[in-house]
Amino acid sequence: MPATVVAGNWKMNTTLDEARALAEGVRALAQGAPGVEVILCPPAISLAAVRDAVSGSPVKVGAQNIYHEDSGAFTGEIAPAMLGGICEYVIIGHSERRQLFGETDGQVNLKVKAAISHGLGPIVCVGETLEQRVAGQAAEVISGQVRAALDGIDAVNISGLIVAYEPVWAIGTGQAATPEIAGEIMGGAILDTLQSLYGSSSAEVPLLYGGSVNAGNIGDFAAQSCIHGALVGGASLQAESFMDIARMAGETKRAGG
Ligand code: PGA
Repeated sequence: MPATVVAGNWKMNTTLDEARALAEGVRALAQGAPGVEVILCPPAISLAAVRDAVSGSPVKVGAQNIYHEDSGAFTGEIAPAMLGGICEYVIIGHSERRQLFGETDGQVNLKVKAAISHGLGPIVCVGETLEQRVAGQAAEVISGQVRAALDGIDAVNISGLIVAYEPVWAIGTGQAATPEIAGEIMGGAILDTLQSLYGSSSAEVPLLYGGSVNAGNIGDFAAQSCIHGALVGGASLQAESFMDIARMAGETKRAGG
């Protein structure tokens, strides 16, 4: 059984002071979500401050993106090695990066490899657009994205891997997927692909649902056996609402979800 994971993707929100305050707020509530791996993913400029704010607590830190090269003339980019000692995870292939910044499956794969080789746990995001869902292509798109992201990565290297299913139409819209839709894709296309790539090792990979998760719907998602937590955007910008989600995810999984 994979760990229960609730990760907050702050996206391009919070100043340095706001990030510090939000991280301190989460830290103060961390005891309320025992057994849940809570990960904060602030903007890169605030990573070190957030690390300091949560140090000594069980709360973990993740970046929102990396570049795949180790160093060099790549103005504005952040190399995986620069995150050493600052965070343990990195979100890779978020749909906003794919859609707004043209990130391809090939680049996602390079970034996943770079993260793993620098000891960062990749939180790999996959998700279909509304057009793809309406055209009946959701499962095919998702398994293709998972396969492409993990191309050339062996089972021995997936110990820190997390996969997040975030349907594009559910992100930031207030229209979460139904738990049944999420369960169908996660227990179907995603799990089948991971099983075909990694056999029994795939059973340890946490699968997160993302897209308009809040304290009111997390219980229904976490009640699905193939959903091990959530990647939370909007509702992660307030410590109380975020930690309500973490607490409820933990309670639901402990109750056998
Ligand atoms: P949302 O974002 O919770 O605001 O829908 C989720 C995400 O993009 O990770």
